[in-house]
Amino acid sequence: MTDRYAVIGHPISHSKSPLIHRMFAKQTGQDISYEAIEAPLDGFAATIERLRKEGYKGCNVTVPFKFEAFNRATDLSERARSAQAVNTLRFKNDLILGDNTDGAGLVRDIEHNQNFPLSGKRVLLMGAGGAAYGVALPLISSGASLTVSNRTHEKAVQLARHLQAHGVVEVLDVKASSVATPFDCIINATSVGLTDDLPELPEGVFHAGSLAYDMVYSRETKFMALAKSNGVKKIADGLGMLVEQAAEAFFIWRGVRPDTAPVLAALRG
Ligand code: ATR
Repeated sequence: MTDRYAVIGHPISHSKSPLIHRMFAKQTGQDISYEAIEAPLDGFAATIERLRKEGYKGCNVTVPFKFEAFNRATDLSERARSAQAVNTLRFKNDLILGDNTDGAGLVRDIEHNQNFPLSGKRVLLMGAGGAAYGVALPLISSGASLTVSNRTHEKAVQLARHLQAHGVVEVLDVKASSVATPFDCIINATSVGLTDDLPELPEGVFHAGSLAYDMVYSRETKFMALAKSNGVKKIADGLGMLVEQAAEAFFIWRGVRPDTAPVLAALRG
């Protein structure tokens, strides 16, 4: 029997997740279906209950329901707890297992697709909203030395404090005029990629060998242009992260890890 999965969001018509998961299913020979469901803004819980009743095995959760999914889960992975958000649910008997694959997807994209091992690297994570919380713990777990920064400095301090059980996280004041040592990897987890503003940054953050990574995908953002103008050669958007977080969810559900390279190539094409 075909096992059913879905992605729930509002809006959802733009989502590439059905396409990605169908490609994974075809490639691995898994008998699943995967659809996009737009839940009313006040209808997330009811949608989850309907899916469970109808025998769905799990779902992905996207904006604006990741925090509600976190609250609905009966069990949480450590990375979901740290993210305070859930993007992957697995329904098992009476349990609703909540996980967050965003950070694992980011780390895997950087390390495997960009061929940029993070262990021992100086990483600057810009932003202290949901996107930054979502990826911070897996970045620390990769062995990177993490610094966080944010327009509202106090929120970066709070994020560092939130992570302190997992390691020392430095905080960079974006109003500082310069930094003494550049970063190996600079990740834009602010929402400015969506508005085309430019996040404030001290001088000297980039160097020619840095990797500049924008979690927004499919077009050059102002952040990517800024990195380029600072001589950075390795610049990535978040499409690889999108595919890798999906692969991690697929693995949670099916126990099979799809090959992401052809899927990413198809999406880029
Ligand atoms: P998300 O879930 O995408 O992270 P969010 O929780 O609203 O969304 O957080 C948005 C992040 O982008 C915050 O870190 C925000 O900075 P503030 O905490 O100072 O608001 C950051 N951000 C948004 N617009 C920005 C801008 N124009 N310049 C710099 N940072 C910006």
